[in-house]
Amino acid sequence: MPSPATVTRFLTGITTTGTPHLGNYVGSVRHSVRFSQRPDVQSYYFLADYHALIKCDEPARIQRSTLEIAATWLACGLDPERVTFYRQSDIPEIPELTWFLSCVTGKGVLNRAHAYKAAVDRNSAAGHDPDADVSVGLFMYPALMAADILMFNAHKVPVGRDQVQHIEMARDMGNSFNHLYGEHFTLPEAEIDEAVALLPGLDGRKMSKSYGNTIPLFTPRAQLQKLIGSITTDSRAPGEPKDTEGSALFQIYQAFADAAETDALRKAFAEGIGWGDAKQLLFERIDREIAPLRERYEALMADPAQIERILRAGAEKARALSQPFMGRLRHAVGLRNLADQPAAQGAHKAAKAAARPSFKQYREKDGQFYFKLQDARGAVLLQSRGFASPKDAGRAIAALQQQPAAALESLVSQLEALDNAGLQAAIEALENLAQPSGE
Ligand code: TRP
Repeated sequence: MPSPATVTRFLTGITTTGTPHLGNYVGSVRHSVRFSQRPDVQSYYFLADYHALIKCDEPARIQRSTLEIAATWLACGLDPERVTFYRQSDIPEIPELTWFLSCVTGKGVLNRAHAYKAAVDRNSAAGHDPDADVSVGLFMYPALMAADILMFNAHKVPVGRDQVQHIEMARDMGNSFNHLYGEHFTLPEAEIDEAVALLPGLDGRKMSKSYGNTIPLFTPRAQLQKLIGSITTDSRAPGEPKDTEGSALFQIYQAFADAAETDALRKAFAEGIGWGDAKQLLFERIDREIAPLRERYEALMADPAQIERILRAGAEKARALSQPFMGRLRHAVGLRNLADQPAAQGAHKAAKAAARPSFKQYREKDGQFYFKLQDARGAVLLQSRGFASPKDAGRAIAALQQQPAAALESLVSQLEALDNAGLQAAIEALENLAQPSGE
């Protein structure tokens, strides 16, 4: 087992508005699942269903999508025993933290978020009110996402390039909070798989629900073949060399194939492979990887109650962290038990002062004068030898009070023998004694 210091925490979420597609698989799920299997990685995966409400007001679709995405991740090899796999809306501390972060974040920061800015720009270009149809939820999107990430003190967040700004905002919000209230949050970093972060869709633009150009990850085999057949190509005939540059088909192939397979297709393009044959190669390559996962997916989709149980167990695991952490954050900002007053803290200090060690002087039957240093519980820290007069003993005490370490060194032969640990404890006690009271 690696020590906690060497473990990297990865966290990622998927918004539950759609059906997972090949772009999600290549850009996020596959990468995340691979990471989750590393022994030096601790992973948090969640279904971002609060985020879904920003974009979608169809309850049935939210529910369906949540089920599909959960089944997808499990089918792709996510092990809920090993990772923390949960549903965002099962963690009430997340919206609470969103509020805390909102209160330390300038409105101007959120004004600059890409999604919000794009909406404003569209409205302005159309001559509408800049905020037309913009919900406060959309505006707050980055704060909710920051709460997702900071709640579990994630180090790394695997995301597409379009999400990098959100991770930077999460860092800034965490930093502002830390600055005001103490070091509570780890500052996260985006983790992008450079090779395949963006997959083109059927029309060559980024594969995305919003472009309607996706290939659903677990679409039935025949449908997969049909969709691949509809990928946009140019009009070059079989026998004419094809460009790999700008070819959606080639890029999708590359995302699934290893280097040797990719080289072989590059060669086939140069040699004028027909588009129909190239599409058949792509279909077979994707289906080879997806078919076993599709089988697991279908079994999971047939048992939603099992998925519900898995998610609830995941939420319990997540809340074992988020609940106590939120308690500390509440205390940090001043949402506190009213019985814990600063006055009570003053009393605590007085009690601490009263608990300081003290010197006791006394005369033994042998007629000599002695002293001892006792801690608050009466344990003897130092025991002096006998002095001829109370004045001599008093001088030794004064020297110990003024310059504990130096005095101890010169007096040690006059005191009872102490071992090193005992000497150290005595020095500490004396130094504590030398501090001005009220500290
Ligand atoms: N915004 C992400 C997306 O649309 C989903 C998401 C929500 C997320 N919270 C997150 C991703 C926290 C990573 C970390 O893809």
